[in-house]
Amino acid sequence: MRLILVGFGNLGRGLGITLAEKQEFLKKRQGLVPKVVAIVDETGALVNDDGIPSAKFVAMARSGKKVEKLAGAKKGEIVHDTIEKVAADVVLELTPTNIKTGEPGLGHIKTAMKSNKHVITSNKGPLVVAFKELDALAKSQGVEFRYSASVGGAIPVIELARKLLAGNEVQEIKGVLNGTTNYILTRMGEEGAPFDMVLKEAQELGMAEKDPSLDIDGFDTAAKLVILTNSLLAINAKLKDVKIAGIRKITPEAIKLARDAGQAIKLVGAAKKGMLEVSPKMVPLGQPLAVSGSLNAVTLKLDLAREISITGFGAGPKETSSSLLGDLIDLHRTLGC
Ligand code: HSE
Repeated sequence: MRLILVGFGNLGRGLGITLAEKQEFLKKRQGLVPKVVAIVDETGALVNDDGIPSAKFVAMARSGKKVEKLAGAKKGEIVHDTIEKVAADVVLELTPTNIKTGEPGLGHIKTAMKSNKHVITSNKGPLVVAFKELDALAKSQGVEFRYSASVGGAIPVIELARKLLAGNEVQEIKGVLNGTTNYILTRMGEEGAPFDMVLKEAQELGMAEKDPSLDIDGFDTAAKLVILTNSLLAINAKLKDVKIAGIRKITPEAIKLARDAGQAIKLVGAAKKGMLEVSPKMVPLGQPLAVSGSLNAVTLKLDLAREISITGFGAGPKETSSSLLGDLIDLHRTLGC
């Protein structure tokens, strides 16, 4: 399977290292032999028609260098050109997210689909801005489009609902979808630690968005809720349809009072027909959504299965590569390449 990696930040490097480490496992257990034929970012492209050798790839990933600085790379803004011209089966779009414009990921995904390449992405922006458009473009081009890694990091909630729960109608979605805010609320509750201090910790752990107000004010949760709503509730939702309140006003005292009453305060995203909302909510301790630390959790209400909840790590390069790899293996099985 010939792959183009677009974006060589934490996720692109993390996936590259996982592919190299799991080379034998993927071949033996899945019959999958992935070949990275190009790595490209906004600075340049490294193309190798035979596939970049694993050891070289790992060394490059660990170097932390931008693509233009890698030996043998072509310099310049050549992302679209590379996606179009290099022969490949799948484009992995892993550039930083922008939930307002969707760019640059949105353009990359369109170019990939228009050049008849299947797409896997972790990028929330393009899905939030143009979900229906991308879904329609994939169908009209006859290409596959997978985005498990865009919501909940390692939690395979989208494919779980679309495949194993396919006979159900999803009636409602509720989730703790942001690791940063959950970490902040947990630490404030456990230690009475001040907001600014625990936010700084979340930033140091590499969990928070570059602009952490996206986490704190609920926009990251809202973006993930929009993606889940579009994929699982078959509603054409946009970010502007979500009523959003973040966690700035929550104090350690409020969390303690809630806990004394057997409740946790969580930033919950909730969606059903006619209602999309992100706000701090009281969740009974011991319930599936009362997860601590950086964990995420999602509960689906379904007509047949009634209720299914799933918990796991919502961020991190290794955790996210679990979902990216899951999508890759799924395409390998679907397409036989
Ligand atoms: N900032 C996000 C979070 C990263 O804290 O959950 C994963 O999307």
